[in-house]
Amino acid sequence: MKIVLSPDPTLRQVAEPCTPGDPALKKLATKMAKVMYKNDGVGLAAPQVGVLKRIIVVDCDIENDEPTPITLVNPQIVESSGEPEKENEGCLSCPGISVPVTRPPFVKVGYYDLDGNECTIEGDGLLGRCLQHEIDHLDGRTLFESCDPLDRIQALRDYDAALAAGAKPGQTSSPIAETDKMPQVR
Ligand code: CO
Repeated sequence: MKIVLSPDPTLRQVAEPCTPGDPALKKLATKMAKVMYKNDGVGLAAPQVGVLKRIIVVDCDIENDEPTPITLVNPQIVESSGEPEKENEGCLSCPGISVPVTRPPFVKVGYYDLDGNECTIEGDGLLGRCLQHEIDHLDGRTLFESCDPLDRIQALRDYDAALAAGAKPGQTSSPIAETDKMPQVR
């Protein structure tokens, strides 16, 4: 399983809903988590490994060395709040750069777990940002579509330079988000 890099058109497509509780999703989620950890990611969406299904894996508990992946099937933002904040984000599909993206700090997300149970997760800080970033992937949005138009010009320029310099997934020119803002799952 390899990471699909921008500008691969797969990343711009809208992913299909999964059948909640489908046993095949467990295998997919395990593979996705492996790819995410191998590349030091805190989140990964299925389209990033070439699978156009609505499933994401996140682990924003970066102070915990033990892997604690959370898999979200058909995730949907049901609530967001707070004054929008502009912060740098990295993406395994856009190696070598970080791009400022403006997002509300807090989100509540409804999803199914791998057993098909309905769940919700709430988060701000890194988790809130990561959930929004990964759900963007399911709707065919990468960093370049999520950022402001003016930042997009710079981001595309930086990305060309990064690719030319041989950037690999997991590399960002700056941290994915400020690490002093720890996730708070409530
Ligand atoms: Co990404």
